[in-house]
Amino acid sequence: MCARRRLAVMTTLKASYTDPSVPAYVAAHATQPDQLLRELAVETAAIAPDNISMQIAPEQGALLTMLVQLTGARLAVEVGTFTGYSSICIARGLAPDGRLICCDVSQEWTAVARRYWERAGLTDRVELRLGPALGTLTALPEDEPVDFAFIDADKAGYPDYYRELVRRLAPGGLICVDNTLQGGRITDPGAGGNVPAMRAFNDLVTADPRVDSVLVPIADGLTLIRRR
Ligand SMILES: C[S@@+](CC[C@H](N)C(=O)[O-])C[C@H]1O[C@@H](n2cnc3c(N)ncnc32)[C@H](O)[C@@H]1O
Repeated sequence: MCARRRLAVMTTLKASYTDPSVPAYVAAHATQPDQLLRELAVETAAIAPDNISMQIAPEQGALLTMLVQLTGARLAVEVGTFTGYSSICIARGLAPDGRLICCDVSQEWTAVARRYWERAGLTDRVELRLGPALGTLTALPEDEPVDFAFIDADKAGYPDYYRELVRRLAPGGLICVDNTLQGGRITDPGAGGNVPAMRAFNDLVTADPRVDSVLVPIADGLTLIRRR
């Protein structure tokens, strides 16, 4: 399967709750991934065929870069790096002196990310912290505001990651959370797996008086949470 077709399939699968033609249309009308991101997607599909759906969709990557640019972020945190696609999109949007702290437990997947950070010329602004993300987040200083965060790891951990990030978030800072629609099953009261936990997380965010939030129906659902 060619790279372009593979990206289109990824996008379609991630937004399975809409008419199949719509996600492909949305993906085609966003800034397209450059050669490096396309190569990363193809390599990830080759070495991790069973986990390719973990990678964010290309149009989400374009959105993340734009949001980081719009917030003028200098300190960003990512929870769930995998082979690096979203981290590159975030790091590319940072202010010139910005930095991104990446949290992941997998040496194997992040070794791929490291190679692509090198190729993208981003090693000076990306710092990998290997280990359970909650430990990394709780160890972050309280007096250095986080401007931008992206949560895309184990779904059971989302409330804890959110709690640690929102208290460190600068006023006007943004947290983006992936997979909040769970393939459209979020409204199915009988759905199991991660759905009940994600529903509880979505309710937690909506009820939090410290933030404004919008659940954007892009790919598998991306919730934008802005600190008041
Ligand atoms: C959905 S993938 C992230 C995809 C990535 N954002 C991208 O665009 O390619 C989830 C990642 O979270 C990591 N992960 C799972 N549990 C974790 C934990 N407790 N702490 C840190 N990372 C974790 C996994 O190793 C995996 O790489």
